[in-house]
Formats: sequence, C-alpha cells, structure tokens
Amino acid sequence: MSQSNRRFLLAKRPVGAVRRDDFTFETVPAQAPGAGQIQVRNLYLSLDPAMRGWMNEGKSYIPPVALGEVMRALGVGEVVASNHPDYKPGDHVSGALGVQDYFTGQPQGLYKIDPRLAPLPRYLSALGMTGMTAYFALLEVGQPKAGDTVVISGAAGAVGSIVGQIAKLKGCHVVGIAGGAQKCQYLKDELGFDGVIDYKAEDVLAGLKRECPKGVDVYFDNVGGEILDAVLTRINFKARIVICGAISQYNNKQAVKGPANYLALLVNRARMEGFVVTDHAKEYGKAAQEMAGWLAAGKVKSKEDVVEGLETFPETLLKLFSGENFGKLVLKV
Ligand SMILES: NC(=O)c1ccc[n+]([C@@H]2O[C@H](COP(=O)([O-])OP(=O)(O)OC[C@H]3O[C@@H](n4cnc5c(N)ncnc54)[C@H](OP(=O)(O)O)[C@@H]3O)[C@@H](O)[C@H]2O)c1
Repeated sequence: MSQSNRRFLLAKRPVGAVRRDDFTFETVPAQAPGAGQIQVRNLYLSLDPAMRGWMNEGKSYIPPVALGEVMRALGVGEVVASNHPDYKPGDHVSGALGVQDYFTGQPQGLYKIDPRLAPLPRYLSALGMTGMTAYFALLEVGQPKAGDTVVISGAAGAVGSIVGQIAKLKGCHVVGIAGGAQKCQYLKDELGFDGVIDYKAEDVLAGLKRECPKGVDVYFDNVGGEILDAVLTRINFKARIVICGAISQYNNKQAVKGPANYLALLVNRARMEGFVVTDHAKEYGKAAQEMAGWLAAGKVKSKEDVVEGLETFPETLLKLFSGENFGKLVLKV
C-alpha cells in the first residue's frame, strides 16, 4: 500500500513576506521509485533565508522554484525503497529533498550520512550547508589573521555563530551583532565572543566604536542594509567584507537598499566579495571532517532550533525574518 505524501507546492510568487496562501498544501500518494530511483522518508528539513529568494522569478545563482513545483528544501531522511545499487533501505541521506514527507527520484546530488556519528539535525547545521558556508566564506573570502577584528552580523544565527567561533580559533578579536539580550548573552557567555552589539537596543555605530577600538578588518555580513552601512564607516586599510547574505532585504517590496558608504572601500583599499557555498561543494568532505573534529573537541558548539510539524512550514519559515529562531532552524517532519 502506498504511503501518503503531504507536500507544499509553490502556488504564487510571494510579495514581501511569505504567506500560507503562496503555497498549495496537498496530500497525494507517495510515488514509488522508478528505475535507478530511491524513495526517502524525510525526517528533518532545513529552513533557510535563501528559500525566500528561490521563490522569486529572475536570474540568481540557482534557478527559481517553478510555480506548481514542490518547494525546494535541503533535508535529511531515511531511504525506504531503492532501485539503485548504491542505496538500500535504512541508509540515511542528505540533499534537496523538498518540503514534503517523501522524496522520490534519482539520488544524484544526495549524499549518505551516518546517524551514529551526530544527531540528524546537525547534518543540516554545523555539519551541513550552514557550517560549510561559515567555514569557506570566513576562511577563503574573509581571510582572518590572528589579531584581526572580525565583526559578524546575524551573529547568533546558524551561520554567524559558527563564523564567530572559527574566528576565535584563528586568534581574532570577535564582535557579534545580534538582536536581543538573550542572544547577545549567549554569544559572550557560551561561545566566547569578545564583544556584542544588540542592534535592537543600541546604536550600532556607537557599539562598533566601543567594541572595535582598532577598527574592523573583516566584516562578515549576513544582513545588509543599515548595519552594513554602519560597519563600512569603521573598516581598516585592506579590510575584507564578506557578502554572505542580506536578510534585511529579502522581503523588500521596493528595490534592495545598497550601501551608501561604499567609498570607504576606496579610501581603505578594501574589498567586498560575494560568496555562494555551492562553489565549494567538492571541498565539503575535508571541511566537514575538520568541523566534526572541532565539535568533538568542544571547540565549536552547534545549536539547532527544531520546530515540529511539516504543516507549519510557512509560519515556521517566518521565524528567520522576525529573529524568533535561536540557532539553526530545522523543521521536524
Ligand atoms: N551565500 C551563501 O552561500 C549562504 C549560505 C547560507 C546562508 N546564507 C545567508 O546567511 C545569512 C544567515 O542565514 P542563517 O541560515 O544562518 O539564518 P539565521 O542567522 O539562523 O537566521 C536569520 C537571522 O537573521 C536575523 N535577522 C532577520 N531579519 C533581520 C534584519 N532585518 N536585520 C538584522 N538581522 C535580521 C535574525 O537574528 P536576530 O535575532 O539577531 O535579528 C534571524 O535569527 C542569511 O543572509 C542567508 O541568506 C548565505
């Protein structure tokens, strides 16, 4: 007897923040695997700010989700049926499984994970795309050196919190910008950040003057907008600005607000560079191994915020934009 598959299809292109009626939530019979295909029971889905961008029409680093298509999501799950020689029921896999109960298709792009080595949600946070983003964007684009001041926005989030911890391992003075006293306290007390700026409670520029007396050598930007502009006024000679994301702009109904203070790059002969994690896919294995070592040694901590229920997908996704998530936002199917 075939299982039923609940799934979210993209019904229309959202304007501003996503709404439930941007999706069709339906239940259909799960598709049996065809030749060379596998069927995966999805267990945890990664909710990412980038999902908002994937819903927009237009050119990006990846094609948009088509209208009527299952909403794209990374996830981890268990193989339940297989017509592929490399996969058997009971194997666990990670990859683009979609916002649904069951993925059926070719396993290209999926990779096997071992649930005995780490809890499954961790393969979506520090050991997954999030951790790989922090690792490569900081080390390759940010190029931190011991003694540098590294400022991170979205610092208590999934990517930001790992970036700060790696920067600490590299001997940097690490300052996090985050929203709210609880997140700021966590960065200092639990993760060992040297300084914090609560952008919801204080002026960011005043905070930067207090926490970065020697200026800013690396700015890891997850939020864009006014915070990017404020940090630009404090950068040092040859500073590196990593454009990892701009979550403050993703729900804009008007054009994205670019940095007004970009001439600080000229004055300081500084560099601003965009980053896309998938460019580093071939190197994930080595980086994940190093990350696993740091996790095992307690040098890096990973925090997951797990919300239960596939059916809550649109509302749970919104937590990323209100800052209600605390750690890597994961949906337990
Ligand atoms: N380029 C790549 O390859 C790549 C890959 C993965 C992720 N990213 C980017 O990395 C960034 C972080 O992603 P994540 O998955 O780690 O999410 P996250 O940081 O765990 O969650 C998003 C956080 O953004 C903050 N935020 C939301 N709206 C904001 C605003 N208007 N101003 C300032 N902060 C705001 C909130 O924290 P507060 O409570 O502190 O406000 C929220 O918790 C995103 O921009 C994402 O697009 C890029």
